[in-house]
Amino acid sequence: MDSLDFQEAQFKALLDKSSELVLDRFRSIDNLKGYHYFPQQEVAGWFDEPLPEQGMDAGELLEVVQDKILGTATGNLGPHMYAYVMSGGNQMSILAEKLAATINQNQTKWHLAPALNEIERRVIRWTAQLLDFPAESGGVLVSGGSAANLTGLTVGRNLFFEKKDIRKKGLFRQQPFVVYASEEVHSCVDKSVELLGIGTDHLRKIETDAHFKIRLDLLEQQIALDLEQGLQPFCLIGNAGTVNTGAIDDLDALAVLAQKYGLWYHVDGAYGALARILDSLKSEYRGMEKADSIALDFHKWFYVPFEGGCTLVRSWDHLKRTYFKKAAYLDTELANDGNRLEYNEHYFQLSRNAKAFKVWMTIKAYGMEKIRAMIQKDIDLAQYLNTLITAADDFELVADSKLAVSCFRYIGNMSSKDEIEAFNRKLMPKLEKDGRVFIMGTTLKGEYAIRACFINHRKTKATTEYLLEIIREVAHKLQGKPETVE
Ligand SMILES: Cc1ncc(COP(=O)(O)O)c(C=O)c1O
Repeated sequence: MDSLDFQEAQFKALLDKSSELVLDRFRSIDNLKGYHYFPQQEVAGWFDEPLPEQGMDAGELLEVVQDKILGTATGNLGPHMYAYVMSGGNQMSILAEKLAATINQNQTKWHLAPALNEIERRVIRWTAQLLDFPAESGGVLVSGGSAANLTGLTVGRNLFFEKKDIRKKGLFRQQPFVVYASEEVHSCVDKSVELLGIGTDHLRKIETDAHFKIRLDLLEQQIALDLEQGLQPFCLIGNAGTVNTGAIDDLDALAVLAQKYGLWYHVDGAYGALARILDSLKSEYRGMEKADSIALDFHKWFYVPFEGGCTLVRSWDHLKRTYFKKAAYLDTELANDGNRLEYNEHYFQLSRNAKAFKVWMTIKAYGMEKIRAMIQKDIDLAQYLNTLITAADDFELVADSKLAVSCFRYIGNMSSKDEIEAFNRKLMPKLEKDGRVFIMGTTLKGEYAIRACFINHRKTKATTEYLLEIIREVAHKLQGKPETVE
């Protein structure tokens, strides 16, 4: 044996078997459980074994994979997943991932992956077009929203450092730099602010209004106070769809404030930015196109499988000024032609897989019209759930959203706020064990709520009704009532 390759017939049999596993998943997709509960110790036990010195039969390995991994996988693909922000994926991306792995390209330098490099550039150009960013906008596909936010904030910080000549002078005698966002901002921003050396003491989380949007009056007061104290406001973050409720800040007013105070304007659109492509919602996003940087996720509302985030900035030069490092082994001096985009000069990673490929395949195969229709369907179904909740005696709606998140509580016939809160908290682990639907909760203005996120093109009105039926049934069981499904 002088390589790891299988004989063609064996490889074909394995490919066929893996395709059968894929098809099997789609055959049962409508009935896919949201969650399969197993105690952690049990799952750990499936994989506890000494490091294998000898390989096992690949066919048998696929059987293990079928049983222990596919068979127990959380039901992201199916219609009964509502927890976090888990999209259902799309079939064209399955092909893209398989083919991309086949050719094993590294997206870092143009001549290492010419076609895929040009594809990533087109995906960036199309994204800029969709979000009304300038045609010359630069951008990069990253792992997800967290990395996309970190990238946007890194560019903002580095350009600010340039202005202050910090590369030369260092940070000595600098007053702290201050970042502003609403209290609803995603925790990845806290992480980014820590990683960038700014420190969370200098992340001002501004109170939100009744619709979970940043209070502009309090924001401006805080900026004035920081300036008065000699601090250096440098970055303002707007939310284009918060993770908790899908709230969209007044992005236009934030753009005006950013301009007024000379702040880097970053928008976290990881969850919501792509919903701007709906005509019905465009006005909600007014001002987002003025951002200096924006974070978004194709693994959310373009339904590509993990991972597929993206950072967009207004010019390639902003990325280059942040990330370029000369190295003899990466030099392009002897390149055959100009105009090659070298991603290693525009981003932190040197080795990078072809994330843009599945996005490109998705857009090409389905077209924007269909993608738009699926996003609209998610939003319509979330609204449908809201109507069901409002009409029901035993549920209460806690937060409405223009996007596809619904926050609510089971109230049964309880009347005390504390009792309802405690009951809903108890309900969550019971629902996880039940597993027919997978849903999680959150805390809004200090109070607990169940949170349903719709980001799956396979959901229907019937599956939405099923969600409430299951919650009701599990709640009744918890209350010791007979198991009736209403
Ligand atoms: C608003 C928002 N920002 C950032 C993130 C983090 O994105 P990711 O999970 O892709 O890192 C999320 C994830 O749901 C989000 O909803």
